[in-house]
Amino acid sequence: MSTATLATAWRQVTASVVRQVEYGAGHCWLDLDVPAPFVAPEPGQFVQLLLDSTASGTLLPRPMSVADASPHMGGWRVSFLYAPVGTGTRALARLRPGDAVETLGPLGQGFPLSERGTPVLIAGGRGVAPLLFAADALARPSTTEMGVPSAPRRCEFLFGARGEAQLVGLDDARRRLDQTGGTLHLCTDDGSRGMRGNVVQLLEQKLSGFAPPIVIHACGPHGMLRAIAEWALARDVRAYLAMESVMACGTGVCRGCPLPRSTTGRDAWTSTLPSLFGNAEQAMCCTEGPVFEARDLDWERVA
Ligand SMILES: Cc1cc2nc3c(=O)[nH]c(=O)nc-3n(C[C@H](O)[C@H](O)[C@H](O)COP(=O)(O)OP(=O)(O)OC[C@H]3O[C@@H](n4cnc5c(N)ncnc54)[C@H](O)[C@@H]3O)c2cc1C
Ligand code: FES
Repeated sequence: MSTATLATAWRQVTASVVRQVEYGAGHCWLDLDVPAPFVAPEPGQFVQLLLDSTASGTLLPRPMSVADASPHMGGWRVSFLYAPVGTGTRALARLRPGDAVETLGPLGQGFPLSERGTPVLIAGGRGVAPLLFAADALARPSTTEMGVPSAPRRCEFLFGARGEAQLVGLDDARRRLDQTGGTLHLCTDDGSRGMRGNVVQLLEQKLSGFAPPIVIHACGPHGMLRAIAEWALARDVRAYLAMESVMACGTGVCRGCPLPRSTTGRDAWTSTLPSLFGNAEQAMCCTEGPVFEARDLDWERVA
């Protein structure tokens, strides 16, 4: 938290739907063409999608993690993986190529992929999407903030679900990791695919094969993230977790997305932080997150 700065590069632009397809396990994949001045999103950041209120029945935008992004015609082609679970996401599923969507983004803090160590990406369910985007970003040669070229990096990718049918987009994950040189490790609660057990048990099983130190980047249900955070904190392993909270503005104004700080998080907070961040007790998921370091949140009180 102490190193996070307010993302001020977000823009509100009208995007158009390019493609909307079923992605398996009750999920949809949506490609939008988002014109300039929208800037490059980072893995772990999110975009607020605002639909026509009359047609959709929703007033507020819906936050969606960026599942993929590539430059296109001076702007960006940005992809999202979502489950149509309620009013907003079902309206999203009705969009067709050529339809317009208001976008606000990219928002929030992404995964700190430049941290040194073996990147261990841990996904549960639809949490796979931002982490495949992260695996792609790690595999691209880049330049550090100091201007030093940084070599492409391979990741260890742990993917878990209740059963094989809930491993959302498994074929796509395998294809994209093959391209980036990442190694896929699978587990399911019922043992129908990969190791029988959860992602923390899978991590325990595979850990001796990963070059230390490891750095964890994870996305999935809060229960899974809590278990990873507790595992990492007990072993002094750095872990970064993509959280969710019900959101309205997505920019720190409405104060509607608080997450409880830990003692460490409270100690790191200072009144000189941007006013759109939270207070000493509560972090704002939209501006300080959605990716938080494990030590900054009070996992006993995370809902
Ligand atoms: C930073 C962030 C990134 C997200 N990324 C994705 C993504 O990549 N793909 C995706 O499918 N969803 C994502 N979500 C969740 C998504 O925004 C919610 O599913 C969506 O707001 C539900 O809207 P709705 O109108 O369909 O559902 P509603 O009609 O509002 O509610 C339907 C059900 O969804 C639950 N719900 C509502 N909001 C959330 C939420 N924020 N998190 C979890 N459950 C919620 C409600 O409690 C209810 O049970 C993200 C949320 C956040 C905060
Ligand atoms: S959603 Fe408004 S402050 Fe976070």
